Amino acid sequence: MITMIREGVDMPANGRKSIFITGAASGIGLACAKRFASAGWFIGLSDIDKAGLKAALLAIGPDNGSLHPLDVRDRDGWANALGEFGKETGGKADVLLNNAGVARFGVLEDLSDADCDIQIDVNIKGVVNGARAGLPLLKVAGGRLINVASCAGLYGSPKLAVYSATKFAVRGLSEALDIEYARHGVSVACVMPWFVETPILNAGASGSNEHMADALRAGGLEVYPVEDAAQAVWDAAHGKQLHYFVGKRAKQMRFATSHMPNTVRKQLRSRPLLSS
Ligand code: NAI
Repeated sequence: MITMIREGVDMPANGRKSIFITGAASGIGLACAKRFASAGWFIGLSDIDKAGLKAALLAIGPDNGSLHPLDVRDRDGWANALGEFGKETGGKADVLLNNAGVARFGVLEDLSDADCDIQIDVNIKGVVNGARAGLPLLKVAGGRLINVASCAGLYGSPKLAVYSATKFAVRGLSEALDIEYARHGVSVACVMPWFVETPILNAGASGSNEHMADALRAGGLEVYPVEDAAQAVWDAAHGKQLHYFVGKRAKQMRFATSHMPNTVRKQLRSRPLLSS
């Protein structure tokens, strides 16, 4: 039996451009959902936080997206979520935004095994899972895979050692897939934000009361508005470059880590971030 799909009746996306966003219930993912929906895109909202997801759908307008509760560590969950999303969009995704991430702040010996594992599992394995599961939908659209890394993927960041390692991994994965996926007509971008005002800045280690936001304040470091990150993702969705930076400090750090890594090392070693 052939099932006819009538555009605009059976497909909520109704011919609109579509983006599937992980970590869409909060912070950068939520800001991206709002940014793209306000420009007429259809949004696949995905997160482990089901209540947050429902609020996100209300925020963007119920006709502008669909809900896909998903733990990015769960491969079967990815297949289900993208299967459902594909039904809404006619089997395609113009963008898959691998944004969900977690941080645990503290020197390595203060982190629990669970603190280490969750960062590796969500930030690396979750992104690999998304890149693999999303390829069929991206191929149909000739779409763009956008992975959210961090400036912590430019130079190893103290008290964020494991987090930093995961963001180097996301950057490496993005650079490699930019080459691999080109033969499928799929391009890749890696967004590297400096610190952005979101709940992730409240991250600590399970055995410590110290939070990243306190250290940022003590160090006088810039924190950029979340809308700047959404704009960078928008630019990445519409551009052809591989790396996109959020905030002036991110661009300065990119330059400094490429051209004067020893200066960066000296600066980081002298910062209060390291004195505990
Ligand atoms: P956030 O904490 O506001 O949002 C992260 C979202 O990911 C939350 O909604 C959370 O429920 C979701 N999530 C966590 N574990 C998940 C899982 N296993 N499966 C599905 N969803 C899960 O943080 P923010 O800042 O919006 O983070 C988004 C991305 O931006 C992350 O990858 C983060 O590492 C990255 N980033 C953030 C920076 C910042 O300063 N806010 C700087 C550089 C990078």
